[in-house]
Amino acid sequence: MKITELKEKLKFAQGIYSGVKVASCAVDKDGREFFGVNCENAAYPSGLCAERSALFGSVVHGSHIGEFKEIHIISNLNKVLYPCGACLQVITQFLKRDAKVYLYNYDLSETKEYFLYEVFPFGVRDEDIKN
Ligand code: THU
Repeated sequence: MKITELKEKLKFAQGIYSGVKVASCAVDKDGREFFGVNCENAAYPSGLCAERSALFGSVVHGSHIGEFKEIHIISNLNKVLYPCGACLQVITQFLKRDAKVYLYNYDLSETKEYFLYEVFPFGVRDEDIKN
């Protein structure tokens, strides 16, 4: 994934109330890239983060839930922004447990790379809700 391409997506982000613009790219096991941006709404809770926008949006393109290998997240802030709890739970459903999470601040002076299990070790998985 080209970070310059992800950064360009920030111009589409709808951070219209908070001023925070976020873009995300989820990469599946075949290297297919799915982009998303945050979309805020006048009814605030109806908005959606960039990560879930990318992941949910991938489904109609035939992406394989549970087999993503990476997710990349950039914002217009000068420090890295960590995914919210709701996104981490959805990321857990879409990504492999040993998948990577990459975070970037706006000017790319700060980048972080984690395994998903490091940032969200106790996410609920399919097998957890079966007897
Ligand atoms: N946001 C994201 O899109 N992803 C994150 O990782 C954290 C926060 C959005 C939600 C909201 O539109 C704005 O950033 C401020 O919280």
